[in-house]
Amino acid sequence: MNIVDRLADLAQIGATAAGIDRALFTPAEHAARERFAAWARADGFAVEQDRAGNVFVRLAGREALPPIQCGSHLDTVKDGGAYDGAYGVIGGLEALRLIAARAERPLHPIEVVAWAGEEGSRFPVGTLGSSVYAGITPYATAAALVADDGESFADAFAGPAGKLTGVPVRDDFPPPAAYVELHIEQGPVMERSGARLGIVTAIAGQRRFSVRISGTAGHAGTIPMAMRSDALAAAADLVLAVEAAGRAHPDSVATVGRLVVEPNQTNIVPGAVSLRIDVRSVDDARIDAMQHAITAATERIGAARRVHVALEVLESRRAAPMSPVLRAVIGTVCNALDPNAMALASGAGHDAMCLAQIVPSAMIFVPSIRGESHVGTERTAPADLELGVEALAAALLAVDRDPSLTHSVV
Ligand code: GLV
Ligand code: MN
Ligand code: MN
Repeated sequence: MNIVDRLADLAQIGATAAGIDRALFTPAEHAARERFAAWARADGFAVEQDRAGNVFVRLAGREALPPIQCGSHLDTVKDGGAYDGAYGVIGGLEALRLIAARAERPLHPIEVVAWAGEEGSRFPVGTLGSSVYAGITPYATAAALVADDGESFADAFAGPAGKLTGVPVRDDFPPPAAYVELHIEQGPVMERSGARLGIVTAIAGQRRFSVRISGTAGHAGTIPMAMRSDALAAAADLVLAVEAAGRAHPDSVATVGRLVVEPNQTNIVPGAVSLRIDVRSVDDARIDAMQHAITAATERIGAARRVHVALEVLESRRAAPMSPVLRAVIGTVCNALDPNAMALASGAGHDAMCLAQIVPSAMIFVPSIRGESHVGTERTAPADLELGVEALAAALLAVDRDPSLTHSVV
């Protein structure tokens, strides 16, 4: 099967009426990791996993050197698309096949990693597997995280939808020499400019918050308007304050994407609301400024509406400039394959943010049709999917040959 067929096959796993649901350590996500491991084994590569749920597929190199890595994630958002993450993993496997078919083996081992739980769609934190691997999140912290359905990360990994069967588990994977992630753009910029390959300059930093607003529940018919502590009305004010914080800063975004109302009944004044906020910018100082504005809003709204507002930081990922040296190598490869190749920043988060904290890291993008992503209609033209794989294979080989980048013995 080629990349297009494999992605179509994988898209059946977790398919819903509106898209794909593969939240971390659910049966569908587990089945996707199993399918990836089975393809990799059938292609002749070694497969291993760690206790964070990351799956490592390796082509041996000629020398005792740290691996050159690529990869992405197999989990999806709710009703997500077939390419976000899956393209970088299955495309990585295709690149590995292309490299393995050459007469000469690479000097370094080449690895493809399916990072666990990039989306944070079941556990409240994103880029979870790659942040444990990079030492940003201690394993014990990840293990203790509790999913929205009440199961802990450690229990979920130990359960039937966690560990892969017949795949060795170890936790001493060395850091790679370099990391290159292939991904769909997830926005409209490349399509508009006619680029088929993108060289990512930086990935926006990201902070996630959890907010609990506690008011007073009561009878919707009897409590006078002036005597209410309505948690949902307070949440509405906060949603608008978050939007205003995002609008106030250039190249920045702020979103409330999740809101749970209690008790959520037509004839009861809402007693409590839990919501989550997602704030991003390529400039960490702007993320700090938005956090400051949102914190001030919680204090103002709490006092004005007589509710208690508790705000907690769930996750903080710094903006990640991509390695200039790797960008130059990838730029040469991409420009040779696409005369319209372009450099662009990523507003979406990626596992490369975590890898960039420990090793030179870079990303290659292919365009998204109409810029659609995180929806079931997410698409990329088959020829662009194939070109991206060609670019990734060429980039991994160029990195392998570049002594300034990687030639340190393990
Ligand atoms: C992941 O796709 C994110 O950017 O939230
Ligand atoms: Mn992704
Ligand atoms: Mn995503």
